[in-house]
Amino acid sequence: MKLTLSVIKADIGSIGGHTQPSPRMVEEVKAQVEKAKKSGLLVDGMVTFTGDDIAIIMSHTKGENNTDIHQFAWDSFIKGTEIAKKYGLYGAGQDLLVDAPSGNVRGAGPAVAEIELEHTLQKPRPAESFMVFAADKCGPGAYNLPLYLGFADAMYCAGLMLPPMIKGFTFRIIDMDNTKGDSILELNAPEDAYQISALLRDNERFGIDSIYSRTHGQKAAAISAQRLHSIAGSYTGKDDPIALVRNQGIFPAPEELVSPFAKAHYIGGDARGSHVMPLMPVAINTPIPGMYCLPIVSCIGFSVDRDGRFADAYADFFGNVAWDEVRRRAQVKGIEMRSQGWSGAAMLPYTELEYGGFRDTVGGLLQRFAITEGS
Ligand code: 13P
Ligand code: MG
Ligand code: MG
Repeated sequence: MKLTLSVIKADIGSIGGHTQPSPRMVEEVKAQVEKAKKSGLLVDGMVTFTGDDIAIIMSHTKGENNTDIHQFAWDSFIKGTEIAKKYGLYGAGQDLLVDAPSGNVRGAGPAVAEIELEHTLQKPRPAESFMVFAADKCGPGAYNLPLYLGFADAMYCAGLMLPPMIKGFTFRIIDMDNTKGDSILELNAPEDAYQISALLRDNERFGIDSIYSRTHGQKAAAISAQRLHSIAGSYTGKDDPIALVRNQGIFPAPEELVSPFAKAHYIGGDARGSHVMPLMPVAINTPIPGMYCLPIVSCIGFSVDRDGRFADAYADFFGNVAWDEVRRRAQVKGIEMRSQGWSGAAMLPYTELEYGGFRDTVGGLLQRFAITEGS
């Protein structure tokens, strides 16, 4: 059968500032998912949160970019927003940027990652397993480095030396500055590794849209690479990307995919979407922690049965003691960076500052500069 995995995520409001959705909101979205399972729209579904973002993780048979599935997610977020509004929560409906999406929520605010696959449970996929990464307080390219390392660097993924992966992977890279549509360039690892690096080093402009196996042609990963401020025309919140990644066999193993996150690498995001801070791996359903507004990422893994069901059990990859040391180092790196406040590398460059207000402040001051006499 053809099976589609869809993850759609949005910030629709949170308690006490931009920390986490309320339990009532999460319950409401879960109730919608249960209804959609009963009606047959979804084969299976699950609802989680990471910081202030709610993710709906679904399996179905309708394909990618399906109007019914996207509309269902949108309507579920609207229901959650009604609760956020009723209880006076912060940022109610924040990521629902249009009045009504035209059949597809991509470009309407929510983050979307989808993979349609041939679900046969035969070679080369005798078992189907996948992971869902969800990030909060993060710029759009938060996964650029870890997914590059997981899919293109044998120092992280020794599996690349094995026959099913030795031909490497195709990276479809998106130029997020082009708001006319999805502007994509396909580059192949390993031979284009330096070209891929040259683009992916810029986390604010270029992102990985998807990754394909060059041996089997199958889609290995889908990432929601978009910039909310490009869509909305002004600051509305951080981009907070999600990634859907298949693993094992013809794809990297879970540990080869999560080990790059041990770096807690610096990314754009954090408070007011305008700082440069380390990405801290956290358990699923973790509110924004710590003394700053540290960028966080969760990762859960699923197996899919013959009918496409997955949600009766999951593995929480970052929700265990092995990641405590990384979390501690992320805090230390965060404290170091924040000790220099607004200076230089601690904040994003002028063009990337998410709060338009920062630019207004500087713009107003620029008006007051004057060439001094005699210069
Ligand atoms: P969210 O997009 O998660 O609401 O982040 C807002 C922000 O910039 C935090 O300061
Ligand atoms: Mg928010
Ligand atoms: Mg958020």
